[in-house]
Amino acid sequence: MNRPLLIGPFTQLLPMTGLPLKGALKDEQLPIIQNGGILISKGKILKVGVFDDLKSEDVDVHHIEGQHICLPGFVDSHTHICFGGTRARDYAYRNAGKTYLEIAKAGGGIWDTVTQTRKASQQELVEGIVSRSQKHLKNGVTTIEVKSGYGLSVDEELKMLRTIKQANETSKASLIPTCLAAHMKPKDWYQDRNYLDVIIKELFPIIKTENLAHRVDAFVEESAFSPEEIKPYFQKAKEMGFDITVHADQFTSGGSQIAVDFDAVSADHLEASTEKEIQLLAKSNTIATALPGASIGLGCAYTPARKILDAGGALSIASDHNPGSAPMGDLLTQASILGTFEKLSNTEVLAGITYRAAAALRLKDRGKLETGAQADFVIFPTDNYQEITYHQGQLKPSEVWKKGTPIH
Ligand code: NIG
Ligand code: FE
Repeated sequence: MNRPLLIGPFTQLLPMTGLPLKGALKDEQLPIIQNGGILISKGKILKVGVFDDLKSEDVDVHHIEGQHICLPGFVDSHTHICFGGTRARDYAYRNAGKTYLEIAKAGGGIWDTVTQTRKASQQELVEGIVSRSQKHLKNGVTTIEVKSGYGLSVDEELKMLRTIKQANETSKASLIPTCLAAHMKPKDWYQDRNYLDVIIKELFPIIKTENLAHRVDAFVEESAFSPEEIKPYFQKAKEMGFDITVHADQFTSGGSQIAVDFDAVSADHLEASTEKEIQLLAKSNTIATALPGASIGLGCAYTPARKILDAGGALSIASDHNPGSAPMGDLLTQASILGTFEKLSNTEVLAGITYRAAAALRLKDRGKLETGAQADFVIFPTDNYQEITYHQGQLKPSEVWKKGTPIH
């Protein structure tokens, strides 16, 4: 009863420890434990090392037969998987050459998802999140950030955040909520008061009281909020102790300056970042997050990940899974593809979806296999870790463990 469990042996175990948070990484730097094992108890890691060294009469063993690689459960630090409906029509319109404005005029864009999400019941939304997070989990993603942002009123944003909280109680993957009440200006805002002012005064305090999120996000973009407009929102969020994250430099630059000014934990997108923003981010504590799923979904440029790393920045890679710009929702596939376009080493790709992504969510107990960390790990049926990105997401995990329990 309650004896520690030893899992292994693994042909190669990648603990993702001892690597820096910032800057370029060469594959020669990647620590690999040959014939590794993980000793766990009560959902946590007791020890990581050589399997035979960890074996003793006091432990039970979960034997891994054949050649396998083990690494930390992946962390997806940016998603919008709480939504109603679909935007397949937007996708077809975009591919037919229609502009952002034409699609919005035809009833598409973020506002379409707001309308469909408002129509959905909390239960329907919970089911959507749980089924999407289950798919991510099977692909090795054990922690998933989930944003609100398709409510765009105090009540509807609350409905989304309560939904995410409820889904987290059912979902096997951990869900990390973020308030994105500043996703765009609500098209049905007819009050005299400023929308963001109402969010600050009425929504933020309830989020605190009900403990619905520790993070606040905004879309800083011409089509959403300007850097000037968003300042009071981030100022108040910071005063109230929220972590800040920003949808920055997606189509036009400006967002990453705001992110750095507010000491944001992350600035995400950055497809339009120029040398100036790259240097700014590299010198800051803000983690740059690439969202290749949005580049693939929109047919746009990739985040300049190589330049960010070479400038000394920290790079996380996330799926941005959402119904509009990134419907695919497959982190490993997207991170591997970003690697080919941006010439990233395997270590940089894997760091971007493990410990660097965990840092973007300020989670100290994930993204690495080390004593005290959550026993979240993913196992691939191969004898060489290079096969993982090489197959671009088509090599699927044979086992995924969450908090010390195998999920399939
Ligand atoms: O991260 N850029 C803004 N927001 C989302 C898109 C959401 C949507 O289109 O529904 C993004 O890409
Ligand atoms: Fe996003």
